[in-house]
Amino acid sequence: MSKNQTIPFVDHEYSLTAGDRMLSLIRTLVRSPEMRHHSLTPLSRIAPFLGHKASQDPDLKHTIYFQDRSIPIIMGNPFILAAGSNKTAEWIPECANLGFGGVTVGTATRNLREGNLHRPRVGMIELDRAIHNSMGLNNPGIDVIAKRVDAQMGQAHKKGLSVGISVAETPGLEDEEQKLEDMVETFRIAYKVADYVEINISCPNTGEARLDLDTRFMERMFSQVMKVRKQLAVRKAVYAKLSPDLTESQLTSVLAALRDLEVNGLVLFNTFPSDRSKYLTMQTPLNSLPVLTSSGARGGLSGRILYRNTFRAVEYIKNQYPDFSIMACGGIDHGAKAWDLLKLGVDAVQAYTVVAYRWFALEQMRRELLQAMRQDGYAALNKFTEGRPTGSQRRI
Ligand SMILES: Cc1cc2nc3c(=O)[nH]c(=O)nc-3n(C[C@H](O)[C@H](O)[C@H](O)COP(=O)(O)O)c2cc1C
Repeated sequence: MSKNQTIPFVDHEYSLTAGDRMLSLIRTLVRSPEMRHHSLTPLSRIAPFLGHKASQDPDLKHTIYFQDRSIPIIMGNPFILAAGSNKTAEWIPECANLGFGGVTVGTATRNLREGNLHRPRVGMIELDRAIHNSMGLNNPGIDVIAKRVDAQMGQAHKKGLSVGISVAETPGLEDEEQKLEDMVETFRIAYKVADYVEINISCPNTGEARLDLDTRFMERMFSQVMKVRKQLAVRKAVYAKLSPDLTESQLTSVLAALRDLEVNGLVLFNTFPSDRSKYLTMQTPLNSLPVLTSSGARGGLSGRILYRNTFRAVEYIKNQYPDFSIMACGGIDHGAKAWDLLKLGVDAVQAYTVVAYRWFALEQMRRELLQAMRQDGYAALNKFTEGRPTGSQRRI
């Protein structure tokens, strides 16, 4: 693919299978949205008995290489289950049964967190195939998560899964030095066991000021984290996860700082803050969202409605900041979308909402990706990526 070739924006649509329709019927019977959110755990475990085994397609094998010699990220395919689905890291190898080639577990904080107290904290917005989330970083704490990742890593790799850990600062800490210490410690524990670490600086639902809006503190924090990384024997990739609602000038200052600190990559993006959802095109009236009314504006929206923004932002950022490795995330629910984004230069795609709506969507998405690739003349993904530099281009 030539560097300057433009990729047209297409919001590729899929047709529902009989299984998808049955699932939407089941959703109407399960009244608790949080229970529906947790349904992926048992499903991933029983998947092999339903005929969905962890089998990776040889033609989709994918590796992200980093020019700063960070350890490459090796995946059975370029689809990663995004943070927030496997919050507790209890079912890592099973993510391959759902069809993924990678998973980001967490987000983890230093200690256990119950998350937001209000209920409901999750709402399925069926008409828009979107989710409204206001969980508030509930997780068992980084020590527990790291132990679970360590115990399951061998199995995960055997099944072609790469495993990242998402970490965030503990909400509610007032003192800046204490905040830094908290974050650096959480990072250090995650870094020891994960294939890559994602730093979540964009959670819209804890009531905390987002770090991607506080460039001064964000720079201090990343500078400490990257210093810790330099002291450790093994160099692994560090990604920053940003919010999709940053203005161009906010993006410029965040990205310039991250580039100067030699952060490897970006996860683009987290959920879209619901208090700014008037910028999204939705069919559902905002005042009818259940979580929105119980939690005020605190929360974020995910799913199909985000894709246009994801595509345009990736296009812009890849053009302006080609050094970053990018994992695109937000509304990716079709294999052809993954292919368009790979052609824009991303190194992997992350998805979550699509599997809440269509449990085995990844099987179809992988087929769609293979088909789109072949239409463009590539028999295997590595034939496409070997011809182009991937990952960070930064000098050491
Ligand atoms: C219920 C729910 C919980 C989430 N929790 C987290 C989280 O803990 N950490 C994080 O970085 N992103 C979290 N996310 C955001 C997703 O990782 C992803 O960035 C977002 O949903 C957009 O992708 P999608 O449209 O494919 O879902 C969560 C999303 C949902 C729907």
